[in-house]
Amino acid sequence: MASKSLNAVLGSCGTLRNLCGKLRNSTCFEASLRVCMEHFCDKSQKCPILRAKPHKLLVLVSLLLLFGCQKAEKVSVPKDALIVGFSQIGAESAWRIRNTQSVQEAAEQAGIQLIFANAEQKQENQIKAIRSFIAYQVDVIAFVPIVVSGWDNVLQEARKAGIPVLVTDRKIDADESLYAGFIGTDSEKEGREAAFFLLDKFAGRKAGDMIRIAEFLGTIGSSVAEGRAKGFRDIIEKEPGFEIFYSESGDFMRSKGYELMRRLLENRSQIDVLFSHNDSMTLGAMDAMREAGLRPGKDIAIITIDAQQKAIDALKAGEVNCVVECNPNLGHLIMDIAKQLAAGGQASRLIHVDESVFREGDDLSALPPRGY
Ligand code: AHR
Repeated sequence: MASKSLNAVLGSCGTLRNLCGKLRNSTCFEASLRVCMEHFCDKSQKCPILRAKPHKLLVLVSLLLLFGCQKAEKVSVPKDALIVGFSQIGAESAWRIRNTQSVQEAAEQAGIQLIFANAEQKQENQIKAIRSFIAYQVDVIAFVPIVVSGWDNVLQEARKAGIPVLVTDRKIDADESLYAGFIGTDSEKEGREAAFFLLDKFAGRKAGDMIRIAEFLGTIGSSVAEGRAKGFRDIIEKEPGFEIFYSESGDFMRSKGYELMRRLLENRSQIDVLFSHNDSMTLGAMDAMREAGLRPGKDIAIITIDAQQKAIDALKAGEVNCVVECNPNLGHLIMDIAKQLAAGGQASRLIHVDESVFREGDDLSALPPRGY
């Protein structure tokens, strides 16, 4: 019932989009649309407009237009601005927050109207958001898939509607014909880099010594967790003397990284190395190590991924041993590709962004502030 009304609301939004072409350079259009989308994406069950009779919906949406006109005076979008619908996973880490800012800043700079939807860590919310973008007839859809699988149906719907879809940051296993391309991180390479550091660090170990590694995985089913785990194993498993004795998901969250490490230490596990799939989990784990009287980076070697400022600071302080960069600044590339796609062009199938590795002993004095 709710979703029927919802479709009607979104249909009205779509109709308004066509009718209100002249409003597209005013603040009114974007603000009203944002209200429509927020109701849809975040509060669909509670939204009062969803209970309205269909014949009242157009009036209600018009009121939203009016309401919007009063609320967003600073936004100005060119008359013929492209409209990009962007579905983000959530705000689970400092990396993710920077990724969102990068997309929002780039859209503003490019004069692109961005409809942003936060899925709050739920795939079903992402699917709903993508459906709403289709109903609204955006020019291009971009999204960060929280997990690899389960996108085929909604991507088929987008294809049927003639809307190109760009996959960003994380990869999917859907048929390649269903999306225009991927831009983001090379997570297998990140895992390999982490392993190469480890081999170097322990190159002088005694024959017969076993280096015990605890791995904190990212979100289960995400391409980045799978890629980082695979890349790491591809290298480490060829070498004798390394054992991954523990591998659990901390869901990329600081609080869970803390919990995992606290429990490991309570069980008196001997840990030589922590390989953590992101900095947020690492920072939580470091708190637990300190609480247990251990020195991060010394009593337990730490390899972490993302390279947020706090991890770089910890590397400089000798509390982390290696930081593999994962680049969140994808906004400009996404907007450039969106423009190409909207103009009927094609995107490269696969773009991996540049990423560095920072190791203990590196001179990091010239490294600019990270911005996340
Ligand atoms: O998909 C990229 C990963 O997701 C980052 O490593 C992590 O911090 C984020 O939440």
